[in-house]
Amino acid sequence: MHPSATAPTPSSAPPGHPDVLVIGGGVIGLVTAWRAAGRGLAVTVADPAPGGGAARVAAGMLAAVTELHYGEQTLLGLNLASAGRYPRFTAELEEASGQRIGYRRCGTLAVALDADDRAHLRELHALQTRSGLDSQWLSGRECRRLEPMLAPGVRGGLRVDGDHQVDPRRLASALLIACERAGVTFRHGRAARLTVSGGRASGVELADGTRLSAGQTVLAAGSDSGRLAGVPEDVLPPVRPVKGQVLRLRMPDAPAGGSTFLSRTVRAVVRGGPLYLVPRENGELVVGATSEELGWDTTVTAGGVYELLRDAHELVPGITELPLVETIAGLRPTSPDNAPLLGPSRLPGLHLATGHFRNGVLLTPVTGDAMAELLATGSLPEEARAFSPARFAAAGGPRPESARVREEQPV
Ligand code: GLY
Repeated sequence: MHPSATAPTPSSAPPGHPDVLVIGGGVIGLVTAWRAAGRGLAVTVADPAPGGGAARVAAGMLAAVTELHYGEQTLLGLNLASAGRYPRFTAELEEASGQRIGYRRCGTLAVALDADDRAHLRELHALQTRSGLDSQWLSGRECRRLEPMLAPGVRGGLRVDGDHQVDPRRLASALLIACERAGVTFRHGRAARLTVSGGRASGVELADGTRLSAGQTVLAAGSDSGRLAGVPEDVLPPVRPVKGQVLRLRMPDAPAGGSTFLSRTVRAVVRGGPLYLVPRENGELVVGATSEELGWDTTVTAGGVYELLRDAHELVPGITELPLVETIAGLRPTSPDNAPLLGPSRLPGLHLATGHFRNGVLLTPVTGDAMAELLATGSLPEEARAFSPARFAAAGGPRPESARVREEQPV
């Protein structure tokens, strides 16, 4: 079905070089490195600031069910597989790193504020039910009984007890520590150019001119994956940035610890745009997110903050009393079908782990498992094959003679 789902058996690295070079130290690059190191491979990660990336901004919803969209049934399967791995993944990562990652089985409530929202939620509920997913319709009163801070006008909602959350910043820092403990080495530099030798990806040249070589290279640089120099045009992943602005507020402490402000993730579609409030155990409340096609711009704008606060206030009026502690914007790496690109590219030696769009944090466990299997055995597991880069004509299939590759001497 997908001819490039199986790569040639991994070649051995040049003497003195790692087996695997991962370009990008966000959660996707780090989980790939950690899991590959766990398979006995020598791994280097190249990134100017590992542990950064889109996960610094993300709210960390593990919302396979409440973020379901029409036409994304295949992605749903991968999302559910990854959500199902979170308990074990959390235990392994917390053990390996000695750090908690804020995994909370809190569930999610998706609510409607007006008749249009309610119609939208009814459609979503029907789609969830047809897809065999667990989701319960509640009246407005039942919603407010669960979350008393909700606006009196809430018209109804969906209770999804299986959609949880994790703290993406803790996830990233735990992955960083786990990688270090597993022997992954880090090169703190910006990847300037992929190097190619003998028709095969050979590594990367950093912005300071340092060259890093490896047997296999993984491009996991989020939105930047779509613009790395040196990658042949027909191999470059079709990934573009979609900006998201996010707010962080602080909820009041409850006398017994934690906070009673909100107990679970609350979502809504307000004026056609998705809005979510994610309460963490440590009292942080994340409110997101805008969705803007503005290229590489990461400016936090007055308009973005205003819209988020306006919509969040309609949903939970008490929010305007809370301290606003952070505003931040990030870039979601987005592919043409909103699903990730996982697996070998048409350039031998170069694999892709990018394009996770709204689901990077959710898909972290399954991506790590799939990429490590590919790197260790040359074969992408069945569950990830539908996400092979081969599904995009420009990034898959046999490499034509015309492929424009700038060849390098081995270093
Ligand atoms: N998954 C939430 C977002 O991308 O805004």
